Amino acid sequence: MTAVTDQKNPTPGAQAIQIDGLRVSFGDFVAIPHLTFIARYGEVHGVIGPNGAGKTTMMDVITGKTKPKKGTVRLDGSIDLLGLDEPTIALAGVGRKFQKPSVFEALSVRENLEIALRLKPRSILAELRNWSDRRRVARVGEVLNEIGLSAQADLSAGVLAHGQKQWLEIGMLLMQRPKLLMLDEPVAGMTDEETSHTADLVRRLRSPERAVLVIEHDMAFVEEIADRVTVLHEGNPIFEGRMEDARQDAQVRAVYLGR
Ligand SMILES: Nc1ncnc2c1ncn2[C@@H]1O[C@H](COP(=O)(O)OP(=O)(O)O)[C@@H](O)[C@H]1O
Ligand SMILES: [Mg+2]
Repeated sequence: MTAVTDQKNPTPGAQAIQIDGLRVSFGDFVAIPHLTFIARYGEVHGVIGPNGAGKTTMMDVITGKTKPKKGTVRLDGSIDLLGLDEPTIALAGVGRKFQKPSVFEALSVRENLEIALRLKPRSILAELRNWSDRRRVARVGEVLNEIGLSAQADLSAGVLAHGQKQWLEIGMLLMQRPKLLMLDEPVAGMTDEETSHTADLVRRLRSPERAVLVIEHDMAFVEEIADRVTVLHEGNPIFEGRMEDARQDAQVRAVYLGR
């Protein structure tokens, strides 16, 4: 299985997303006091931490849903996302998967992937100019292979198991070749078998052209997939490094793992 090459190739190891001096508050409550965070191309980066640590808030800031009080958020080393609205941020290369799958149940798996191309907030005409039928079919085939649903391509999405729907939704995001792919608790509600299959899938998502950010409570899952983890506590990054080292870290154990 070959990784799909974008027109513009980011340098592996370069910063896909760079957050500096981020401060987010809701009224008087400071959810994130001062956050610095980097996710790099070619890596799967896990973000863990107890409930209320600020994980979802961080994702909301990156996608433009929540506007911070202070700080910068840069995509690809240059584009400042804070000046952009949600659709423009998505178009710039930020894909986010929510917990609840939102596939079109009446359409086939293949049609769901095709439609994902057109959901880009860019005109369909521009899309048609840029994509020949052959390229479109080839791209859908690649993504079907990547998400492990080639055999289900012509089934309607409605008959898929919960886990398969989640994989299809990841595929819909992949169609748009995101530079940053963010998954919020991708194995919540999955069977053990689906969780292990999802771990395989997420490991295969590692590509020089993208950074993958996974928010997750399931420690064993994070350990299987992540090259690097950041542990958040009350909006502060208290650890960054390998998951196996996080498990040994006294502060991490105190606030999270040891509970
Ligand atoms: N829209 C909001 N209004 C007020 N408080 C919020 C809002 N969103 C999040 N918070 C608070 O910010 C903190 C961080 O929340 P969140 O980012 O959802 O944590 P996590 O995803 O790590 O569980 C929590 O204390 C939460 O109650
Ligand atoms: Mg959350």
